[in-house]
Amino acid sequence: MLSNVLKALAVATALAFTTGQAAPVEIKAVAEPLTSQADGTLKVCTGINFTGTCSNSGFTVATCFNFIAPFNDSIESIQPPSGFVCLAFIDANCQGQNFQTTNPGFSSLNPPFVNSLSSFECFHQ
Ligand SMILES: *[C@@H]1O[C@H](CO)[C@@H](O)[C@H](O)[C@H]1NC(C)=O
Ligand SMILES: *[C@@H]1O[C@H](CO)[C@@H](O)[C@H](O)[C@H]1NC(C)=O
Repeated sequence: MLSNVLKALAVATALAFTTGQAAPVEIKAVAEPLTSQADGTLKVCTGINFTGTCSNSGFTVATCFNFIAPFNDSIESIQPPSGFVCLAFIDANCQGQNFQTTNPGFSSLNPPFVNSLSSFECFHQ
């Protein structure tokens, strides 16, 4: 019985690795991602023009979220959803140098922010 469960798991894992080729990699950008209760989702990618590893991170407004690996200090493009303004910070806990962005965001961040963001916070526009 247990071995059947393990076999099923192995098949599911193999499928997960073989079927997702065309889709962008979908992983968490924050430690506690919100889904059903999210107000919106912030898209971040490790490459410019929304390439590389990307994540759509659910957020609640007026709440600070810290980016986790592989996004912490590695974001090169960022896109808030329509209707929101987001602040992106160089330091964790929404501290330090920051900029404000609205949809469609920045396809290519400039210094000092490129590969330096550690947290974000969004608000209704
Ligand atoms: C990013 O997009 C711009 C504008 O379309 C383009 O000029 C540039 O070559 C792109 N860069 C990469 C690395 O995709
Ligand atoms: C993000 O990177 C900074 C260094 O810039 C580090 O101090 C912080 O602990 C990292 N945060 C997480 C959640 O990994």
